[in-house]
Amino acid sequence: MRRFLPALCGTALVLAMAPGLAAGSTAGASTGNIENGQLLAFTCAGCHGIEEFRNAYPNFRVPKIAGQNETYLVNALKAYRSGDRSHPTMVAQASSFSEQDIADLAAYFASRKPQQQDRRP
Ligand code: HEC
Repeated sequence: MRRFLPALCGTALVLAMAPGLAAGSTAGASTGNIENGQLLAFTCAGCHGIEEFRNAYPNFRVPKIAGQNETYLVNALKAYRSGDRSHPTMVAQASSFSEQDIADLAAYFASRKPQQQDRRP
């Protein structure tokens, strides 16, 4: 008769939780401030759909970012800022942002529900 190792189950649980913890810490030292992000997001609204995601210039597609994953938003904005992503509009937007600005914006957009944003009075 072989022995079972219940301790292994405990270890597996801890390991399963580890990626979540790691993801939370990739935002680095700066923790997003939603209220400040909302102020900074004023300039994003014209393109990134406050009014039912419609673009002021409907001849190009603008991605929906409300409710998007916070870490994804941070990475996207940093990629525009560094030039890894080359869309001129967004490079121009992101080039002036500090780490904190990016964290705040990401926290704000991640906190928004796409539906709420859709149905604004
Ligand atoms: C003039 C229009 C315009 C403005 C203003 C604007 N964006 Fe964008 N944004 C775009 C377009 C177009 C894209 C798609 C670019 C591409 O294909 O890489 C984009 C892409 C993005 C992405 C990547 C989305 C994804 O799914 O990968 C993020 C994040 C983003 N914008 C955030 C912002 C934030 C935050 C602001 C305000 C500070 C802002 N944008 C202002 C037009 C705009």
